[in-house]
Amino acid sequence: MNILPKPFRIDIGEGGFSFRADGKVATDMPVIAAMFGGADAASRVRFRKGDTEWDYELKITKQGVTALAATEEGLFHAAVTLLQLTGGSLETDLPVCTVYDKPRFGYRAGMIDVSRHFFGVDVIKKMIDTMALFKFNHLHFHVSDDQGFRLRIDALPKLHQIGSERKGTCGDGEPHGGYYTKAQIKEIVDYAAERFIEIVPELDLPGHTRAIVAAYPELSCSGKATEVASWFGIHSKILCTGKERVYEALDKIFAEMAEMFPGKLFHLGGDEVAKLEWAKCPDCAATYRREGLKNLEELQGYFTNRVINMLKKYGKTPILWNEALNSGTLDKSAVVQYWTTDRPSAEKVKKAVQEGRKVIMSRCAPYYLDYPCGVHSLKAMYELEPLEELGKESEKGIMGVECPLWTEHVADAETLFRRFYPRALAVAETGWSAPGKDRADFMERLKGVLFLLDRKGVVYTPLDECDPGKIKSALQAAAFGMKMQRRCDPTSARNWRSMRLREPRV
Ligand code: ACM
Ligand code: ZN
Repeated sequence: MNILPKPFRIDIGEGGFSFRADGKVATDMPVIAAMFGGADAASRVRFRKGDTEWDYELKITKQGVTALAATEEGLFHAAVTLLQLTGGSLETDLPVCTVYDKPRFGYRAGMIDVSRHFFGVDVIKKMIDTMALFKFNHLHFHVSDDQGFRLRIDALPKLHQIGSERKGTCGDGEPHGGYYTKAQIKEIVDYAAERFIEIVPELDLPGHTRAIVAAYPELSCSGKATEVASWFGIHSKILCTGKERVYEALDKIFAEMAEMFPGKLFHLGGDEVAKLEWAKCPDCAATYRREGLKNLEELQGYFTNRVINMLKKYGKTPILWNEALNSGTLDKSAVVQYWTTDRPSAEKVKKAVQEGRKVIMSRCAPYYLDYPCGVHSLKAMYELEPLEELGKESEKGIMGVECPLWTEHVADAETLFRRFYPRALAVAETGWSAPGKDRADFMERLKGVLFLLDRKGVVYTPLDECDPGKIKSALQAAAFGMKMQRRCDPTSARNWRSMRLREPRV
């Protein structure tokens, strides 16, 4: 049966049921009624709340359909499953069966980077709408980076007035900008909540902050004026760890963001912090000495734990990219998002999970969707099993899975959706379904549910391009590598990882 992600258990009976007539369903949830032909209390397709140990049960008999769940979220999942079973036509005979279903992981997410390229509310809503049809339940919203700050913060208006605009992109000379008003963020958050998706905002700190520093140069170590980045790569104009006004400004941003994004999770970034300026800054040096730190990683650890503590007063659970483990001091409450592919990081993440840390599996290879299919194929995405990577004993520590879509090289909505779909559906399956992979079965079910994307007018990568052969893959990899090089800031701190930075000594 074409259900994706694959349900936990299906008991198949004999015969079928069709709700051809007008396709209405008995539900008091408008979002479910809208998936079918509307609501009608007399319909033989009924959604009802009640006790069950499952996320939902969906019972199809010759007489009708009953969806049962303890929560509205479970009923929504049942509706999605039923919609998939129709195969796009209410005329279809639904097979007599009972589906018993529940998710493997509580966190099933995609990420959109709206800093490198800005996407309007309609695009974000379309992404949410389609993600919900495959039981994703979080959208990680990367709203701040070197190339643009995308929120309106009333207490710090230069963040949108200056920080949301750049002069061009990799030398094209065409200004690029945009930010979301508070009303627009509410529209996105409410729309997502109606589909049981939580928006997880990311304020990437303390690196990837050149747009913030362009708006408020006094938050950097040098205090010198700079511009919002027009090129990609790693930038070293970052927040200072030693100036109190940095923490004061961040608290103002947290206060407004916590209100805009009412969910529990809040991403604090922590990746790719090129600490060049910290090593030369008297304020960072004073912090370093006062706190008795031994290296610059510990200085990042100090900064991170301080902002985590600030965030706690808003009742949020912090998430950080896995470099935040490098200090060895990361606050216990922080969830780690595992993305890097190097062996030492993998070992640190593994150890962290064994010590009880919650982790999101998001390894760049193959989960990053900005890479072409020739580099991160649908097959590779489908076949990644989180436990194989992090060890059998890590099941409890894995909070879930996420496929990020960075947008350095994604400038329009069509490319955004093409990169996201259908590969993200492999991650949706890993996040929801019980372990055990069967690629042929997955591909069959995938073909059977793509009508949901067609119906929404979403353009996705055709299946015969999702797993290119060796030669095509090599060509795509080479072209992508060259594009990354070409669009990288030639003066950026590209080699920051190998730089031997000394402790602050001023
Ligand atoms: C990342 O890809 N820099 C998290
Ligand atoms: Zn400093």
